[in-house]
Amino acid sequence: MLKGRHLIEPKDFSKEELEEIFNLTDKIVEKPEKFNKKCSGKILANLFYEPSTRTRLSFEAAMFRLGGEVVGFSSADSSSVSKGESLSDTIRTVGCYSDICVIRHPKEGAPKLASLKSEIPIINAGDGGHQHPTQTLTDLMTIRSIKGTIKNFTIGICGDLKFGRTVHSLIKALSRYDNIRFILISPEELKIPDYIKDEVLIKNNLEFKETEKLESSLKDLDILYMTRVQRERFFNEADYIRLKDSYRLDNKKLELAKDDMIILHPLPRVNEIASEVDEDKRAKYFQQVKYGMFVRMALIIKLLGVDEEC
Ligand code: CP
Repeated sequence: MLKGRHLIEPKDFSKEELEEIFNLTDKIVEKPEKFNKKCSGKILANLFYEPSTRTRLSFEAAMFRLGGEVVGFSSADSSSVSKGESLSDTIRTVGCYSDICVIRHPKEGAPKLASLKSEIPIINAGDGGHQHPTQTLTDLMTIRSIKGTIKNFTIGICGDLKFGRTVHSLIKALSRYDNIRFILISPEELKIPDYIKDEVLIKNNLEFKETEKLESSLKDLDILYMTRVQRERFFNEADYIRLKDSYRLDNKKLELAKDDMIILHPLPRVNEIASEVDEDKRAKYFQQVKYGMFVRMALIIKLLGVDEEC
C-alpha cells in the first residue's frame, strides 16, 4: 500500500511496490486518456530550490495529465525562503494548500527532514549529490520497457560517479535485482563514493569493476549510462574545467559496442554524448525522458491513493 507514503530514496519502496508502479505505468502508456481525471480536485506542490527542466516539468505535466493542479516555485529566490523562512515552516505551510509535495534541494537530507514535518506525501526530486529516486524510477522503467526485464545485464556507468545523485540512486535500486554487473567508468577524482561502494556494492556481493577507460569497456556492456560532470557540486572551477570533458561518446566509439546495447542519460547533457549519436538506434535518452513523465503519473496516483481502475 503506497497511499500516504514518502519517497526519499529508492529503497523506501520494496521491489514488489516498484513493480506495482511499473505495471500502472504500462497501463498509462497504453491509454493515457483513461487517466485524465484521476487526480481532479488534487493539488501537487513543486518546491524547487535548485534548477530543473525534466523533473519539475515532468511532475507538472504528469499532474496536469491526471486532471490535477500544480502550485510551487522554481527557485528559492521567488519564495519566502529568501526572507529566511525555514524548510520546516515552508513544508507546514505547503501542506495546508496541497495534497502531495515534490522537493528538490541543494542540501543532502533536506527532503528527509521535510518528510518528518509533513502530513502529505513528500517526493525527493534530488537532494544535493545524494539521491534522485524518481530519476531511478524513470531509469528502471526505461530498462524494463526496452529490455523486457530488470535482470541479467552488464551496465556501464560513466562520468561523474562522485557527485551524480542519479548514479547513487540507480546503483542502490539495481542492487536488489538479479545478475547485474557494474562497470564504473570515471576519472580517479570522480570515483563512486565509499558509502556506495562499501554499503551497497561490496555488502551485497555485487560484481563490479572500476576503470577510467570507456573505449575498452564498451564491448562488454548491455547498457551504457552516461552522466555529465556536475559543475554545481565542485568547490573549484579549475577542477571542473580540467575534468569536464573526460568522456565523449561519439559514433566512432560506438562501433566498439554491441548492436543491442542501449544508451541512457538522465540529462541534461553537456558534451559527453555527441549530438550525432542521437540518430543511432541505441540512443534511448529521449525515450527515457518520456517514461519519466509516465512513471511520475503512476507514482502520484499511488501516493495519493486515488482509484486507479478505469
Ligand atoms: N534528470 C534530471 O534531474 O533533469 P533536471 O535537472 O532537468 O530535472
